[in-house]
Amino acid sequence: MITKSTIDRIMEATDIVEVIGEFVQLKKRGANYVGLSPFANERTPSFTVSPAKGIFKDFSSGKGGSAVTFLMELEKFTYPEALKWLAKKYSIEVEETVETVENKEEENHRESLMIVTGYAAKFFHESLLDTDEGKSIGLSYFKERGFTNDTIKKFELGYSPDQWEAFTGQALKDGYQQQFLEESGLSVKRDNGSLYDRYRGRVMFPIHSFTGRVIAFGGRTLKNDKNVPKYVNSPESEIYHKSNVLYGLYFAKKAIREEDNCFLVEGYADVLSVHQAGIENVVASSGTSLTVEQIRLIGRFTKNITILYDGDAAGIKASLRGLDMILEEGLNVKVVLFPDGHDPDSYVRNYGTSGFKKHIEDNKKDFILYKTDILLKEAGNDPIKKADVIREIVESVAKIPDSIKASVFIKECSYLLQIDERALLSELNKMRLAKAKKDSQQQISRPVPVDETLLDEPVEKKPREDASQEKEIVRLLLLYGNKVIDWDGIANTYIGPFMIAELSDVEFENQTCKTFIEIYRREVENGVLPEEQLFIHYPEKDIVDLTVTLIATKYTLSENWYEMHKILVPDEQVNMKATILGAIFHLKKQKVGKILEGLRSELQKTSVEADQEILLNQYMHMKKVEKTISEYLGSVILK
Ligand code: UTP
Ligand code: MN
Repeated sequence: MITKSTIDRIMEATDIVEVIGEFVQLKKRGANYVGLSPFANERTPSFTVSPAKGIFKDFSSGKGGSAVTFLMELEKFTYPEALKWLAKKYSIEVEETVETVENKEEENHRESLMIVTGYAAKFFHESLLDTDEGKSIGLSYFKERGFTNDTIKKFELGYSPDQWEAFTGQALKDGYQQQFLEESGLSVKRDNGSLYDRYRGRVMFPIHSFTGRVIAFGGRTLKNDKNVPKYVNSPESEIYHKSNVLYGLYFAKKAIREEDNCFLVEGYADVLSVHQAGIENVVASSGTSLTVEQIRLIGRFTKNITILYDGDAAGIKASLRGLDMILEEGLNVKVVLFPDGHDPDSYVRNYGTSGFKKHIEDNKKDFILYKTDILLKEAGNDPIKKADVIREIVESVAKIPDSIKASVFIKECSYLLQIDERALLSELNKMRLAKAKKDSQQQISRPVPVDETLLDEPVEKKPREDASQEKEIVRLLLLYGNKVIDWDGIANTYIGPFMIAELSDVEFENQTCKTFIEIYRREVENGVLPEEQLFIHYPEKDIVDLTVTLIATKYTLSENWYEMHKILVPDEQVNMKATILGAIFHLKKQKVGKILEGLRSELQKTSVEADQEILLNQYMHMKKVEKTISEYLGSVILK
């Protein structure tokens, strides 16, 4: 926990223009700065920074906030990570509270290990570039494989001499402690207590954490001896948890974000060759099968994974099940196979960057369709096997959290499997029910940890009400209710009564807005068009306050709304249709969102199957409504 006073000092020192300026080229425009959005591909700048308010706003992606938010969005930092980044930039010492002695020791311990691995990376790298043995054996090997000096330097490739104590001896001489040499796995202890090098006569691939520090190594033998393991890797340690690390991520993360896609390959060599070919959004799971942690790590940068497999079919089937995990995390998975005998490394070296890209474009297949294909081929004409295939495919689809996406797959699979779409859907619903049941049972049986600090808080907190959409409706009624509609399709109608009619199925939550609408409706029903004055002089204080605030702050409330929909209008009256319909349907969308939320939580609570079925159907229905509204909004607004 970073102390409040440190946070304050960081905030004081932070110059948002300077911080964002490190990532985005900003130009001064009036009181603000503008630049190209780092979150979207755009040609005309829609990204603004206001130094006076200390905020940024990206009209392309809708993102906005402080310098800290910016770092969290762009670099995928956690909140403390972003603060520490700023602290470092402005040379502010970070104080952390309740740091127990153990905490501190643990931190020091990890730091010591990283210092040792960093030192080792340097040792191996220098030994590759500056020693005769390194140059003639290691460097010539890398050159033969086509790696350039730039690649070798960027990835800090190295060579470990073919001796028992070349590294360990030097490290001890330089004052590094036995304990850390051993724990990091760089050195191994003999029975007599002395240490020797783990890697001997191997080329070294340092493994970087996603913030760029060396935390482990893979060392490849140069011998063609079947009895020698091809790679020797660092053991698990306090700084290296294999399942949480992806090789190359540090060098790939910027490109992953820009391309909004991550290529996943198998080996170190694949990462290096593909990266060197200018395709930098590539990482490797390094021999282990992909873990949930690794998927989440990728998920911090993109929701799209493209898996590049080498030709041999043996491993492919085995990995199919593992891939369901990616679907469960809500990521989109595509698969590309390489022709027999080729892996991404050899393919890109043979066919060059454009050949490689073309192969991917021509051969990438959505994971589920690819899986369907493979399993179907295997099942042949055997009806029982085919039934199994269907179940397995639907099982995969059921893992996709987004129900619209899932139904698209069902459609495509029904074609491939030659099965009625409805049959697949009913199978899908069954599995979802079973899963919802399982989840809810797990929730009940899991004891809820009591956080003592929360005990004085009221137990049931009311969700924070967001009334801005409702207020926007009130504002429009106040300003334009007595104007006449003049747009295609509808004419000679007053805006006020039109809006009231359109909103008859919407329940307002904010009490004052609700009262306002009721008053307005009553007047309209009596054949009167209420004027501002009625509300300004209304006997209820809340109504007066609301009215005055809304009339005074002309555009501020809707500004946010326009920003979210990527439109910049000089004046909301220019496109009255978009203004009015936009406000109405945006409110409706919000309400549907709330209904969906309610259904979700009910689904989790019920364990009666029949109820679940009903709820699930309602849920799917509301999802459709939500989609229709979104599409309608898009068509009205973006004209
Ligand atoms: P590969 O055998 O495909 O390795 O194993 P590679 O990196 O492509 O090596 P080259 O092209 O023959 O030089 C894929 C990955 O599996 C892990 C390594 O991370 C390797 O990059 N692996 C493989 C091991 O950890 N140990 C092994 O003995 C073999
Ligand atoms: Mn290889």
